[in-house]
Amino acid sequence: MEKVIINEVGLRDGLQIQPKFVSTDKKIELLKSLIESGVSSFEAASFVSPKAVPQMSDAVDFFQQLPNKNHIYYSALLFNEKGYERAINAGAKSISIALATTEKMNQANIRLSLSDAIKKLGNIMKIANQDGFDTQAYISTALGCPYEGKVSVDVVIELGNKMLEAGAKKIAIADTIGSGGPLLVEKILSAAIKNFGKEKIIVHFHDTRALALTNALVALQLGVREFDTSIGGLGGCPFAPGAKGNLATEDLVFMLNDAGYETGISIEKLRKSVLIAEKHTGQTLGGRITEWWISQEKKLSANKASAAE
Ligand code: COA
Ligand code: ZN
Repeated sequence: MEKVIINEVGLRDGLQIQPKFVSTDKKIELLKSLIESGVSSFEAASFVSPKAVPQMSDAVDFFQQLPNKNHIYYSALLFNEKGYERAINAGAKSISIALATTEKMNQANIRLSLSDAIKKLGNIMKIANQDGFDTQAYISTALGCPYEGKVSVDVVIELGNKMLEAGAKKIAIADTIGSGGPLLVEKILSAAIKNFGKEKIIVHFHDTRALALTNALVALQLGVREFDTSIGGLGGCPFAPGAKGNLATEDLVFMLNDAGYETGISIEKLRKSVLIAEKHTGQTLGGRITEWWISQEKKLSANKASAAE
């Protein structure tokens, strides 16, 4: 069976926009339930200003408590030297940055111009690489920007190349606001595969317009084997108006398992993680599979009840 990596981003991308603070213990409970389902790769937290993103203010504590660090992959997202120091002190071994494609999005997100962001984030990739850490560069708003609209494929490729030259080992093509459709995904990924090589590409889709799973299928058919998803479809960006939740982990896992790919994740067990995420955020969550999932559960318990009679 061919392997596909599912990188769970619910604990960072998913939680960052939640208004109610989810305590470190609750984050750990959610994480452990995901590990029990078979998830083995996480974007665990971001080391950013607690004023900018209060939900991530416990990143150091949380990272120090992460279980099974030798076998589970945990990455840390950050944007500046202070974030880098905090992440390394907390034991992070995999460092991600996110470079947006436009002036306005970089300004809104990290208060830097595009050219300063390229320099600063490139420098972090360089240092992290020299220090022996694993590195990923997200090219965010790659399929459209909430402030500047359409983004050219050439810009995405240029920024990706710059981050690879700086020291990024992988490039994540991120549809931060879910504005991309399958044809655009095909266009950008074909160029990205040609320029970076498909083994270096991660894709990150949001489901704002119900196209995330379709976009993921396009990426899969083009040979991409690493996907960011978020449990229950949690997500959104506080600095990107209109961004909705990520592609739900359960939707992609269901599709991949059904198609015979090896994800290592049990779809049945993921249900518990969705319920934990709902309990801790107070939100109604769940991907497109949810209704069918619940109907199956009802059938199962009705069968059990009649067998017991
Ligand atoms: N961790 C903790 N605190 C940090 C920090 C970090 N990585 N970086 C900056 N800070 C603190 C500073 O200590 C300072 O605190 P003070 O006001 O108590 O003195 C304050 O934040 C402002 O610092 P400054 O260096 O002037 O940063 P800034 O105001 O230009 O903001 C960022 C830049 C990157 C720190 C900020 O925009 C940020 O954290 N953005 C979050 C981006 C994000 O997570 N987006 C969503 C994911 S894509
Ligand atoms: Zn995202």
